[in-house]
Amino acid sequence: MSQPTIRLLTAQNGTEYQRLRLESLQVNPEAFLSSYDTESKLHDSAFVDHLDWAYHPPAYGYFGIFIEEQLVGYLQASKNYLEKQDHIASLHNLYISKAHRHQGLASQLIEHVTQLLREKAGVERVFLSCTAKNQVAYKLYRKHGFHRIGVKARAIKWNDQYDDEVEMVKLLVMGP
Ligand SMILES: CC(C)(COP(=O)(O)OP(=O)(O)OC[C@H]1O[C@@H](n2cnc3c(N)ncnc32)[C@H](O)[C@@H]1OP(=O)(O)O)[C@@H](O)C(=O)NCCC(=O)NCCS
Repeated sequence: MSQPTIRLLTAQNGTEYQRLRLESLQVNPEAFLSSYDTESKLHDSAFVDHLDWAYHPPAYGYFGIFIEEQLVGYLQASKNYLEKQDHIASLHNLYISKAHRHQGLASQLIEHVTQLLREKAGVERVFLSCTAKNQVAYKLYRKHGFHRIGVKARAIKWNDQYDDEVEMVKLLVMGP
């Protein structure tokens, strides 16, 4: 099997991103704050615009992972535009298509993106959050050097069930 490749998604990837995004909301609705009900009603152009809005090379936007030119997963890195928070960034919306899990693809995405953030954007700290029930993602982030810094208790309510939002950080630069 050919090696996966990682690159920033552009507006040209709108259709395949839309397919995978809607798949993620159907396959793992518990993992995301948005829902299939909401996003399946959006116009196709909303997905194109979203990728375009996020696209700020070299280190920010949706990083797609491709196998034989097929998009099988992505991870969003977003910039903080406030002047005093230029040294921090956040990760969102990590998803690997079900058929391609447990092959280290999410790990490759996380390592690739955090390295770019450190080397090309001078980022010192990367933040993310995941739902408390999502132990697979939590363990994955722990394995990649993120640690838990707080919990927004019952910040999620879906189908009358509560979940907590766990806040995590990875330090890219060791400081005093
Ligand atoms: C969480 C998620 C992104 C992980 O993707 P993945 O590509 O399967 O992750 P990886 O393969 O890099 O690592 C996951 C596990 O597979 C294991 N793994 C990696 N390579 C492997 C291989 N070749 N064979 C078997 N297992 C392997 C890893 O060790 C890890 O297991 P562990 O955490 O129990 O030790 C994926 O399950 C997913 O998309 N879930 C739904 C959406 C979601 O939860 N997103 C996160 C929102 S916060």
